[in-house]
Amino acid sequence: MPPYAIELNEVKKTYQSASQQVEALRGVTLQIGSGEFVAIMGASGSGKSTLLHLCALLDRPTSGTLKVNGQDLSGLTERQCVEFRRHQVGLIFQQFNLIPNLSVRDNVLLPARLAGTCDQKVVDRAVHLIDRLGLSARQLHKPDALSGGEQQRTAIARALVMRPALLLADEPTGNLDSANARHFWSLLSDMLEESPLTVVVVTHEPAAAAEADRVVVLRDGAVAGQFDVEEAKDAGELAARYQLLTR
Ligand SMILES: Nc1ncnc2c1ncn2[C@@H]1O[C@H](COP(=O)(O)OP(=O)(O)OP(=O)(O)O)[C@@H](O)[C@H]1O
Ligand SMILES: [Mg+2]
Repeated sequence: MPPYAIELNEVKKTYQSASQQVEALRGVTLQIGSGEFVAIMGASGSGKSTLLHLCALLDRPTSGTLKVNGQDLSGLTERQCVEFRRHQVGLIFQQFNLIPNLSVRDNVLLPARLAGTCDQKVVDRAVHLIDRLGLSARQLHKPDALSGGEQQRTAIARALVMRPALLLADEPTGNLDSANARHFWSLLSDMLEESPLTVVVVTHEPAAAAEADRVVVLRDGAVAGQFDVEEAKDAGELAARYQLLTR
């Protein structure tokens, strides 16, 4: 059997601030298959962003092991972590995090420029992504001249331009109205059909989680439960199952 795309084993993360310790993750064991689309749900403070940051190597577990494609990442140097993020991971955040003085096209090309791999093939791919995401007429605009939905679509193109194996998104539609949020999810599933990759999305929205293969629910820094989306017949039933697991 091929290795899991992501494998966490008894992962704990404790934040130490001046006056107190916060146990953000208290022993999470979770496997995510290659090509799987997993939605992480849970109340505010349950550890969702912490989990995602660990998977992106933006932070390290306090204890436990994290493997990506079978490789234990605990031994990587800071430089190797940067390389891993640049080449393996696409990231989308709630606050689009676009660079204000760069155009749409330059924002999309930024990961390739940072990695020193911005050749014609990458430029062609960026143009294709911009076109697929309906941004061709906007590609020379700066982010402040874009709508929220256009900014978020730029962030999708930027996350996919390096052909990552893993797409991680933290409440990507949290700042969008419901019509733009729906548009985001349907574009994302179209993009996944074009080039399959492993996706982990943190979301509060049952309708968004219904796009995934599996829902993992966190409560107080631990996995409260998980279920296959197929088991729920619609977003309403998915929301009900989620509520049961957060009690
Ligand atoms: N850098 C930090 N220093 C100290 N505590 C932190 C830090 N980051 C997160 N925490 C704490 O860890 C816990 C989990 O935080 P996390 O951001 O993972 O929650 P979340 O599930 O993403 O919540 P939300 O839905 O509000 O985004 C919270 O109690 C939070 O206050
Ligand atoms: Mg969060």
